[in-house]
Amino acid sequence: MKFIHVTDPHLVPPGESLWGNTPFERLEACLHDIKTHHSGAAFCFISGDLTDRGEVETYKALKERLSAFPLETVLMLGNHDDRENYFKAFPEAPRDEHGYAQQVLDKGTRRFVFLDTFSEPYNSAGWYCDDRLAWLQAQLESAPGEVYIAMHHPPFDIGIDYMDRIKLEQHEAFAALLAAYSNVRHIFFGHVHRTVFGSWRGIAYSALPGLNHQVPLVRASVGSPYSDEPPMYGVVTLKEDQVLMHYDAFWDRKDLPDPPKPK
Ligand SMILES: [Fe+2]
Repeated sequence: MKFIHVTDPHLVPPGESLWGNTPFERLEACLHDIKTHHSGAAFCFISGDLTDRGEVETYKALKERLSAFPLETVLMLGNHDDRENYFKAFPEAPRDEHGYAQQVLDKGTRRFVFLDTFSEPYNSAGWYCDDRLAWLQAQLESAPGEVYIAMHHPPFDIGIDYMDRIKLEQHEAFAALLAAYSNVRHIFFGHVHRTVFGSWRGIAYSALPGLNHQVPLVRASVGSPYSDEPPMYGVVTLKEDQVLMHYDAFWDRKDLPDPPKPK
């Protein structure tokens, strides 16, 4: 099966720009490219920072755009979001028994678990309280087979100081819970606005660039807090014996001229 990972669109009202780029324009190009080349994917998920400032009107504009997108799309919250305003625009969106924007998608024997790491009161770091941990434990316990977790904040450092300060706050409790289960195959996350792969305590993980702006690997390599590097979406294929991932730089992909013909 194939599915699509998109992250950190940081939408502002249509037509407005953010850090010199236009988030809705990037989202439009991304969704168009996915529709054109991957319409057979089982689903798509957007791992948080749907908006930059959490306005209801921006969530509504996203909803309007997604109504013309053919793939089932799971939306997640990041630290730039606003849970209350999100639910104003998406009142039908799934929530757990405590009202958190968490949900599960079962595809055959595979379970995809989408976490809500949004912090209240507001904090850029991720928050995963005991109620949410208990919900996750119940999902792990009842999973019919392999589990794939998606979350906005990584529960570990990625070696960039200012991102590491705003990772998941309860990373030890989270790690302890996962250690009790052997069925978690992969953690997909956003937040870091970079391509990152690896494994953590035996679990594979991956993150990808945001749609609008990126976090420079080396802060001094650019003169601004964020950088303009290629946005990408992820194409993930799950096979019996493999998790295969491609990141496609849809925004920067172009034809090359033919090489000169030999004389
Ligand atoms: Fe972000």
